[in-house]
Amino acid sequence: MSLSDCKLIDFPTVCDSRGNLIFIEEKKHVPFEIKRVYYLCDVASGSKRGGHSHKEMRQIVIALSGSFNAVLDDGVKRQSVFLNNPHHGIYIPPGIWRELSDFSSNAVALVLASTPYDERDYERDYDAYRKMKQSNSP
Ligand code: TYD
Repeated sequence: MSLSDCKLIDFPTVCDSRGNLIFIEEKKHVPFEIKRVYYLCDVASGSKRGGHSHKEMRQIVIALSGSFNAVLDDGVKRQSVFLNNPHHGIYIPPGIWRELSDFSSNAVALVLASTPYDERDYERDYDAYRKMKQSNSP
């Protein structure tokens, strides 16, 4: 997978005088079955999260509250996506390195994941990640 496979997905919103209601259904608004939901909150000032890629797991990252920056890397190119809007999320397929940083004080990062947690699905070493991508490229 490459950076061009990472996409911002807009979620449907019901808006009325009481506020906004945003909803997400698996395989309809996100391209996978949701097997796990987790969220990052109270991120210490200046801290970074992520710093890994996944072999199989697909995910959507949403700035439910506040803002943060997501750096996406496919082993060749890097791209930054600033997330500050709960109406959309960034879809990250397998094989993409990601780093989350610059969390605002009230930031909550919601993650919808296609698999249960399994540490064997992670690559946490960037050099090993680059080598794996180079050996898999045509
Ligand atoms: P980590 O992968 O470092 O978080 P991130 O990279 O998203 O900032 O995870 C921190 C710890 O939490 C690590 O020991 C693994 C554990 N963990 C779970 O037990 N279940 C989960 O669903 C996730 C995402 C992490």
